[in-house]
Amino acid sequence: MSALRILLLITSVLTVVTGHNITAILSAFPEYSDFNNYLSQTKLDDEINSRETITVLVLKNDVVSSLASKHPLSVVKSVLSLHILLDYYDNKKLHAISDGTTLSTTLYQTTGNSPGNVGFVNITDLKGGKVGFGSAVSGSKLDSSYTKSVKQIPYNISVLEIDSPIIAPGILTAPAPSADVNITGLLEKAGCKTFVKLITDTGVLKVFQGAAAKGLTVFAPSDEAFKAAGVPDLSKLTNAELVALLQYHALASYTPKGSLKTTKDPLSTLATNGAGKFDLSVETAGDSVTLDSGVGTSRLASTVLDSTPLCIFTVDNLLLPTELFGKAPSPAPGLSPETSPASAPSPVAFSPEPATAPSPFLSPPAPPTASPVGGPAPSDGPTADSQNSNASNGVNAVKSPSFVVALVFVSLSVMMSYVMS
Ligand SMILES: *[C@@H]1O[C@H](CO)[C@@H](O)[C@H](O)[C@H]1NC(C)=O
Ligand SMILES: *[C@@H]1O[C@H](CO)[C@@H](O)[C@H](O)[C@H]1NC(C)=O
Ligand SMILES: *[C@@H]1O[C@H](CO)[C@@H](O)[C@H](O)[C@H]1NC(C)=O
Ligand SMILES: *[C@@H]1O[C@H](CO)[C@@H](O)[C@H](O)[C@H]1NC(C)=O
Ligand SMILES: *[C@@H]1O[C@H](CO)[C@@H](O)[C@H](O)[C@H]1NC(C)=O
Repeated sequence: MSALRILLLITSVLTVVTGHNITAILSAFPEYSDFNNYLSQTKLDDEINSRETITVLVLKNDVVSSLASKHPLSVVKSVLSLHILLDYYDNKKLHAISDGTTLSTTLYQTTGNSPGNVGFVNITDLKGGKVGFGSAVSGSKLDSSYTKSVKQIPYNISVLEIDSPIIAPGILTAPAPSADVNITGLLEKAGCKTFVKLITDTGVLKVFQGAAAKGLTVFAPSDEAFKAAGVPDLSKLTNAELVALLQYHALASYTPKGSLKTTKDPLSTLATNGAGKFDLSVETAGDSVTLDSGVGTSRLASTVLDSTPLCIFTVDNLLLPTELFGKAPSPAPGLSPETSPASAPSPVAFSPEPATAPSPFLSPPAPPTASPVGGPAPSDGPTADSQNSNASNGVNAVKSPSFVVALVFVSLSVMMSYVMS
């Protein structure tokens, strides 16, 4: 039984768990091809596919193209995020809203840049069977109307058509991110001064700025991460090694959180200088994303900026590549995240990576005290998700992240024992 076969089996398990593929669903409807293309370009497709209990309000091609012709991709992404409801609504449920009106959380709410009610959509069952949608910001009109139901996979995903875009106040006028986004300013504000000093002193900042226009994702360790026990003495590194270490904290692509969650293969970093070198594995448990360098793991702590084509995250620990720091040292205090989901068996831990593969799942269990306290709080996800957690017909009760992890684990165990026998 080859590693490839095991991988194929595992992949099929993952596909079942992931459930839906919005790109495939919409490809059957040419009238939504523009909407579908923009979902792919903005990576919102990964966000949709990584979530359960979701409703996508699609718009026809002419509506999308008139919006997209007037606004930058970052604005299009914000508007489309407002059309992705973190709840399940089909035709029946739309017409059975209690009191005839409700607010739904949208994906836009999880981006951290949506003050007040901007990230919510008002759904109102109007007279004569019409259902109106609008921004939940008070004073907004309900001028988007439900036109038809497109596709349902109960209660995982529903696709409904509306006739015009839902626009929240201020969303269209947000400035587009430009090449002159002040990366260091943003990072300093986010509590990553040590990282800023290092990238500035070594010139790696220039590499980041050069890459930013085409697609860049930065994982900036917090100041606490540099002080944590077990962090190697960086002054012992040569300049070239320090540069490689810093470049290891970035990807040459726009990879927002939803895309990280759906990542199966190891990711190349800016330090990658050959197949399988200086790459990172991603592990997901519910809304929590953990990066695994092979030496240790680090939790994605907060989203500083998610604005196509630039994404900046803070992470709890330094990412230490095996190429510089060897395999997992047996005592690795401070190098593991505190959360138990990270040390739970993760599908990604089985990724093929024979070259460097110091089995990620061999990393030592995290000591609960090792985590840096006072790091930036996660700014995205949980709030919105929790508001949504019991919204639809009780089906969510069995879909908690731990249930899914357990399901994957049980499935994998069964598969493995079958394959091994
Ligand atoms: C809905 O999602 C769950 C979990 O992701 C999955 O097990 C189930 O098969 C999906 N249902 C359908 C009808 O695809
Ligand atoms: C989703 O479907 C599209 C089109 O059918 C396909 O190209 C893509 O690889 C699929 N994505 C996943 C994650 O399976
Ligand atoms: C939705 O908007 C309508 C019209 O502005 C308003 O009357 C209603 O109270 C709003 N619904 C909620 C749940 O706020
Ligand atoms: C970026 O922000 C930092 C800190 O806020 C500031 O010192 C610096 O001058 C800014 N750089 C530019 C180019 O605006
Ligand atoms: C979710 O469930 C809790 C307790 O079961 C309940 O208090 C709360 O009102 C529910 N929220 C929604 C939005 O249904």
